[in-house]
Amino acid sequence: MLSDKKDSASERFLLSAVAWLCLSTSIGAMVALKFLFPEWLGSISWLSFGRLRPVHTNGVLFGWLSMAYVGAMFYILPRLLGTELWSQRLGNLTCWLWNATILLGALTLALGLNQGVEYAELIWPLDLAVAGLFVLVNWNLWATFLARSVDRLYISIWYMFASLLWTPLVYAIGNGMLFPVTYTGGLASIATPYSGVNHAAVNWFYGHNVIGLWFTTVGVGIVYYLLPKISGKPIHSHRLGMIGFWTIAFVYVWTGQHHLLYGPGPDWLETVSIVFSISLLIPVWTVVYNFWRTLEGRWSLFFEQPSAKFLILGVWWYFLTCLQGPLTNAIRPISKVLHFTNWVVGHAHLALLGAFTYICFSAIYYLWPRLTGREVGAAAAKRHFWLTTLGLIIFMVSLWAGGLVQGTVWSYKTVDVDFATDQAAITGIPFLKSVEMMLPYYWLRLAGGLMIVLAQWDFLAALLRSRRARA
Ligand code: HEM
Repeated sequence: MLSDKKDSASERFLLSAVAWLCLSTSIGAMVALKFLFPEWLGSISWLSFGRLRPVHTNGVLFGWLSMAYVGAMFYILPRLLGTELWSQRLGNLTCWLWNATILLGALTLALGLNQGVEYAELIWPLDLAVAGLFVLVNWNLWATFLARSVDRLYISIWYMFASLLWTPLVYAIGNGMLFPVTYTGGLASIATPYSGVNHAAVNWFYGHNVIGLWFTTVGVGIVYYLLPKISGKPIHSHRLGMIGFWTIAFVYVWTGQHHLLYGPGPDWLETVSIVFSISLLIPVWTVVYNFWRTLEGRWSLFFEQPSAKFLILGVWWYFLTCLQGPLTNAIRPISKVLHFTNWVVGHAHLALLGAFTYICFSAIYYLWPRLTGREVGAAAAKRHFWLTTLGLIIFMVSLWAGGLVQGTVWSYKTVDVDFATDQAAITGIPFLKSVEMMLPYYWLRLAGGLMIVLAQWDFLAALLRSRRARA
């Protein structure tokens, strides 16, 4: 059962990741439908909005993206280190355990067992399981590192190994695992040492760093691997890549508080997070500039290979999301209008569904023929790209436009105080009206979302077809 065949762990991780992508985006579509028909399935508690939403987010983040990342690292790192993966058996065992953890995560969340902290919803026994999975992946890859036959470490190695070290730390902090905790009974009841305002700050330290120091840094590591492979040219500047690595390592950790502007935390902490958020433009620029210069004269690859198509657009989404974050969401007067609106949901999807998902697709299209000896069908790959991209554009436009409408309507409020009677009256458009105004945007999001979901099931079928053809 635990194969030691070369690259078998990588292949299984990638295939499992795509299966979780299909399941979790389908749940996302059910959640989107509930925005239009809130009563739909309403009486079945485990299918209610509050249960399905974290099943969707945990599924896409820890099932799809994280498993795709580990699958890609199991292939890429041994090649860059000039050796073989230390243990395929351990890699395959990790893959089974990872799948079991995600499945248990989905079941427990559906049952309402939830720590009540965004992106740290999994109950504490599963937190321990996640920590254990990171130990297994680290063990396998660091043992591979020690057996390396190269001296000079390529940029991707820095990005990936650093992410493997700091992600468990970030996860442990976010889930209150590093400090003595008080067990208060039950699976979801653990009292962390943080409470109130401090807990909010720690939550967004965790929430933003799991994006910045796992999804971003491993994603960028994959881009740096694929770029010379796909373009057939060496990377434009190794030094610039390393400057990007060290600046992201230093800058990212300070940015979490920008999620809580005008919140209950200290103002100075918000200002620090704004300054560092804007500084993030430096590492982003190093990636985009290196990408641009390396691909010079090779842009026609976009029309030739699915992996190039997804990589080019993925880096473009990355650039856009990293402009949007520091220049809109993290700026006080703008956040004042857009916070709590669909603009932010659009931003989250642009990063995770746009940038990092596209980078993973590029990696899968590049690696799949090398893992299985079979290409994914050209027509299926084209369908996958265009259906996902069209769906994504509709999805994004609906969220951004809807977010602007919500923000504008909500800010259009005045408070009139009659000082004679001390009575205050709030005038403006009633909140319920703003909910009604969102309906066309929710329909659009559903339409774009369904196109994306359909494209992923079609993609999974294409991968399975090519795998069967090998057998
Ligand atoms: C790889 C693909 C995807 C990823 C990584 C992803 C990720 C996320 C994340 C991180 C959130 C939380 C956003 C926030 O709180 O600001 C979210 C919420 C949501 N997602 Fe997705 N998503 C994906 C695909 C989809 C698809 C295809 C749909 C289908 C329509 C969808 C529908 C939703 C809905 C309805 C919410 C709740 C929004 C809210 O509460 O206002 N997602 N998703």
